[in-house]
Amino acid sequence: MGKGRLYGLGVGPGDPELITIKALRYLRAAPVVAYYVGKEKRGNALSSAKPHLRADQIRLPLVYPVTGKKPEPPYDYEGVMRDFYDEAAEQVAAHLDAGRDVAALCEGDPFFYGSFMYLHDRLAERFETEVVPGVCSVVASASVLRTPLVYRDQRLQVIAGTLPEETLTRMLSEVEAAAIMKLGSNFEKVRRVIRALGLESRARYVERATMEGERIRDLAGIDPESVPYFSMILIPGERWRGQ
Ligand SMILES: C[S@@+](CC[C@H](N)C(=O)[O-])C[C@H]1O[C@@H](n2cnc3c(N)ncnc32)[C@H](O)[C@@H]1O
Repeated sequence: MGKGRLYGLGVGPGDPELITIKALRYLRAAPVVAYYVGKEKRGNALSSAKPHLRADQIRLPLVYPVTGKKPEPPYDYEGVMRDFYDEAAEQVAAHLDAGRDVAALCEGDPFFYGSFMYLHDRLAERFETEVVPGVCSVVASASVLRTPLVYRDQRLQVIAGTLPEETLTRMLSEVEAAAIMKLGSNFEKVRRVIRALGLESRARYVERATMEGERIRDLAGIDPESVPYFSMILIPGERWRGQ
């Protein structure tokens, strides 16, 4: 019996209708559906894909050992996560070795900051693998905020809010347009930088774009404690008035 194929399927930013026709076809055909999920959480990728699943598909949850704020040393966060991804890859590999195709669900796009990459790194040389791109959260957020993101030859920076304050300040000091991701507990730091650089009037905030519970808020009124991980600040490029 041949080995199964691994599919990394971008399921989009939240709205189940924002999946591509191709990803949907592979999703419906796969006997095994794997997805990352936080402990006692529903899993965003699963929520997006759920309306499309068949009752007879095997579901393989890959449960993160840590969710929320990254624990400080001496907790070996990187080591724990490496072991987790090794173990997750072996769980997926067991199905592939048994000849079953596995559809790995990925929130947004698989290769755009997606945890599918860690499965890909471990399995793509052992098993036939195909990746189907998805609608990523940056463009979904721009649509929800109704703001064109970049005109003409403007530069777009994609920035992780997890970076140190000095790095964020340096990166944003010559911003043309930016998407600042991974907010959560980093929100206050990011807002401080945006204020210090005089960018607050240009910055737009959205949480859970296209998902249930989507919210758009002004930066000024946000309680940092209320900011979820699935949120983003966009600084759109200046409007092009030439056309
Ligand atoms: C690990 S990255 C995953 C990105 C994903 N693969 C993509 O293509 O968009 C997680 C970050 O993406 C952003 N994000 C993902 N989905 C989002 C959504 N629906 N609304 C706002 N931000 C989102 C948040 O900034 C979050 O911290």
